[in-house]
Amino acid sequence: MKKIIDSLFEDKDLSDKDFIVLINNDSHDDYLFQKADTVRQSIYGTGIYIRGLIEFSNYCKNNCYYCGIRSDNKTIERYRLEKKHILDCCSHGYELGFRTFVLQGGEDYFYSEELIKEIIIEIKSRFIDCAISLSMGERSFETYNTWFQAGANRYLLRHETANSEHYKMLHPAKMTYRNRIECLYSLKKIGYQVGSGFMVGSPFQTTEILLEDLRFLQLLQPEMIGIGPFISHHQTPFHKFPNGDYRKCLRLISIIRLMFPYSLIPATTALATINKEGREKGLLAGANVIMPNLSPKRYRKKYQIYDNKICTEEEAAESLSILKKKVETIGYSIVSDIGHAKKKVLENDLAIKGNEIINL
Ligand code: 5AD
Repeated sequence: MKKIIDSLFEDKDLSDKDFIVLINNDSHDDYLFQKADTVRQSIYGTGIYIRGLIEFSNYCKNNCYYCGIRSDNKTIERYRLEKKHILDCCSHGYELGFRTFVLQGGEDYFYSEELIKEIIIEIKSRFIDCAISLSMGERSFETYNTWFQAGANRYLLRHETANSEHYKMLHPAKMTYRNRIECLYSLKKIGYQVGSGFMVGSPFQTTEILLEDLRFLQLLQPEMIGIGPFISHHQTPFHKFPNGDYRKCLRLISIIRLMFPYSLIPATTALATINKEGREKGLLAGANVIMPNLSPKRYRKKYQIYDNKICTEEEAAESLSILKKKVETIGYSIVSDIGHAKKKVLENDLAIKGNEIINL
């Protein structure tokens, strides 16, 4: 096992057979996590990046079998944030030290191309040193392009699974693997920094499929890779399926860190939901991003994509000081501006658009 881990550390790649062994074997987890942490520290130091998450709508036209905000779930109360409220969230976040805002929502066409464009322009003009990430699902090439030209910098769209048959088992026929992948390549082509990823332990997933996920990421080369355990939601067709394996998820974070040393890897809310120490352990296994919630408190509980999604104090942005302390106790520090970053990070994380420098 050690040999396999060392070889992944050296070459950033393994044979299919060795990947399968590594994904399934928990005998050398500590060694693997340590190696991943070494790689992360050599590139990013001890800095942890924060992104302020604004869950602006829980309406969704899609009906993914795993997701609690699927359109067929008639039991949840739906909400939408108006432009003014989204901007208020950004102001609040800016004061707290956030310099990246992630606008995340279900696929909700109430937010037209034009409306999102206006929101992007307004955020950019008010907070000129901030980056905007969008996470609102599949749209047309033209729409993605309009938003990029308006000032959006990044787009998060998990591929969910790189196996088209498996994709069909997780989504209704209206949604296709092909379209998802096309969207990802469109985003790349337009110039977005792209985030992708998948759930660990989603129903019908096999180790071979996880291997396909890793191989797909090698082709796509996204800047951010978000993974988290599948967590069942009681109002979905998958309510009887078991949750994903926490340790396997940590191993995959480490494997991804070793394969993609420069990638931004969040310690996801799903990981923190499934285990009390998930966030910290995720960071220790190679993750380097945390996305606290900036949404107004009264809406947080309504964005339940899986059961028991945490919206505790630390999860929320107001408790940044608690989060800072927690992160410091495990030897890291939260970075909210350019000043603290290592030179290497600056090179990797700065984008220049016109004559404007954006801290990514
Ligand atoms: N468990 C874990 N993750 C989920 N997601 C959606 N539903 C669930 C669930 N039940 C993830 C998907 C999606 C992201 C926003 O949340 O991967 O892309």
